[in-house]
Amino acid sequence: MSAPHAPHQLFVTTALPYANGNFHIGHIMEYIQADIWVRFQRMQGSQVHFVGADDTHGAPIMIAAEKAGLTPQQFVANIAAGRKPYLDGFHIAFDNWHSTDAPENHELARQIYRDLKTTGLIETRTIEQFFDPEKNMFLPDRYIKGECPKCHAKDQYGDNCEVCGSVYAPTDLINPFSTLSGAKPELKSSEHFFFKLSDPRCVAFLTEWTQDGKLQPEVANKVKEWFSVRTNPDGSTSEGLGDWDISRDAPYFGIEIPDAPGKYFYVWLDAPVGYLASLKNLLDQRGEDYNAYMANPALEQIHFIGKDIVTFHTLFWPAMLHFSGRKTPNQVNVHGFLTVNNGEKMSKSRGTGLDPLKYLSLGMNPEWLRYYLAAKLSGRNEDIDFNADDFMARVNSDLIGKFVNIASRSAGFIAKRFGGQLGTVSADGQSLLAALQAATPAIVDFYEVREYGKALREVMLLADKVNAYVDQNKPWELAKQEGMDARLHDVCTACIEAFRLLTLQLKPVLPALAAQVETFLNVTPFTFAQAQNLLGAGHGIQTYQHLMQRVDVKQLEALFEVPEPAAPALVPGGEDIAPTISIDDFTKIDLRIAQIVNCEPVEGSVKLLRLTLDVGEGRTRNVFSGIASRYQPEDLVGKLTVMVANLAPRKMKFGVSEGMVLAASHADEKAEPGIYVLQPWPGAKPGMRIH
Ligand code: 2FM
Ligand code: ZN
Repeated sequence: MSAPHAPHQLFVTTALPYANGNFHIGHIMEYIQADIWVRFQRMQGSQVHFVGADDTHGAPIMIAAEKAGLTPQQFVANIAAGRKPYLDGFHIAFDNWHSTDAPENHELARQIYRDLKTTGLIETRTIEQFFDPEKNMFLPDRYIKGECPKCHAKDQYGDNCEVCGSVYAPTDLINPFSTLSGAKPELKSSEHFFFKLSDPRCVAFLTEWTQDGKLQPEVANKVKEWFSVRTNPDGSTSEGLGDWDISRDAPYFGIEIPDAPGKYFYVWLDAPVGYLASLKNLLDQRGEDYNAYMANPALEQIHFIGKDIVTFHTLFWPAMLHFSGRKTPNQVNVHGFLTVNNGEKMSKSRGTGLDPLKYLSLGMNPEWLRYYLAAKLSGRNEDIDFNADDFMARVNSDLIGKFVNIASRSAGFIAKRFGGQLGTVSADGQSLLAALQAATPAIVDFYEVREYGKALREVMLLADKVNAYVDQNKPWELAKQEGMDARLHDVCTACIEAFRLLTLQLKPVLPALAAQVETFLNVTPFTFAQAQNLLGAGHGIQTYQHLMQRVDVKQLEALFEVPEPAAPALVPGGEDIAPTISIDDFTKIDLRIAQIVNCEPVEGSVKLLRLTLDVGEGRTRNVFSGIASRYQPEDLVGKLTVMVANLAPRKMKFGVSEGMVLAASHADEKAEPGIYVLQPWPGAKPGMRIH
């Protein structure tokens, strides 16, 4: 099919996930696709640096952090802390996982920008944009809603109408409002920075770059269309590439633009730079030189991405790199979306269907999923579906029925009857093994071009051949026959040799199983070059341990079981527990220990007592409390209690109340009368905060 592959120098990445949620199955599919390729390349002797990072910047993350009462830095750190169980769980072996908010990225993004500016490709223009006067910020389109200018449907997003499908600019909306504050947005002008993609130099470069074989043919064809026509925000079309708005105004969680206070890079400017930042961070950790590494002309830069982010990776990113004097990608490998059980697409924000952590927690083998996805993946940009029945059938019939069984049917005899030593393979076995060896280069070629489905089909055809050989020779019968020891040894040896070759061929997909087999066979880690050798007579192997269970239908049922919505808890207090709040909501309430320095009845009120409270402020507070039915004023004087110290003062009929004392009662006063003022344990002092 092609010449033997020389080892490559490879820098491989997957798209950087937004740090505003956990991984969903779509992320895991992409990482598995790239991880298989990286493992394959390493088995070919290539030097690979495989990196990822969190994509941390932008308005949605800033707003999500604010809602959670966290700084954006804390927010993304929490997300980053949750990455490991997924990556380890599915054997996805990134060499480094970094962050686009790391210093390397700030520095690299600013350097690239400066270089582009020097090249004359950055321009400033004043644009008008909606501004939220309450939040004091410019509003990205997704935070503006209003009435559709065409069909007058209410509550439509700023860029298109979900009812009639028309496309428009947010400024066309009738009665627009900010979804962040509800305020009516105002048009305000601001200076923005643009990357001049329409510059003839960019057009010439990208016309060539996108059509010279770095992209899959179907992707290159799609990209070609963007050079002739593009759709504007208002639905109209324009000729050729448009300039790219790369700046956003403060407040924005991002990287400040050099010499432009209050202006930040749009998240998509610094996101792909994160590939380089993660690599640089890795090389720094290893004491290697980033610039020297990137300067190697043999280095190949390979990106794995989904079909929704092709523009960024085939136009903006290569242009940014080229015109800042940097190396451009050698391949951008685009995959389609994953659907689950013929269901909806796995959207970025809503990864429903198959929860990767639930999969692992049910004890499902990660290599089943790796195998199943690999069997469905091709080198083309096409969608694939995870189908539960198909998954079970394929894993059980291919991996267990065809592959693992070869070892389980032969290894026992080698151990029990031949002291764990392999024997000599006679002509029929040799020709079987020769067929397996001869097929390996084609399998290698399929892996190289990411045709994993084809590679695995080839391996399973070989496994069929081995099983046919087993069925013909029936080692379990040979074992019972007098004088057939030598033949039994021969057949079982051929099976173990064949199993070794099949495992080697499957290793990029099944790395953990392959490692077990390496131990079982007493061999060093498999490489593809070793497919030309055999273990040979006299080679000793370990006792066989079962390598893989079958998929149990119960696991799949549990995986796709939709949890029953929790029944509202009925509590003895007669009231349901209020909706969950975050710890940050809680900390907004400043609860303090207060000493009741005085307490008196309120004239004209049977319910209220007037409390004079000391919360350690050097003054006292006046608080009215509806506890007169239960407490005599003298019972309370001198006691400690708990008060809400930051409640806005309330003007009441009898005066201003400067806080609230905490007391417990049943929701239905008649069913269970009584009110109980809270009292701290001894030792608490007025003014102490309650956490
Ligand atoms: O679409 C996304 O999920 C982006 N966070 C991908 C960024 S890829 C790279 F440019 F960082
Ligand atoms: Zn409409």
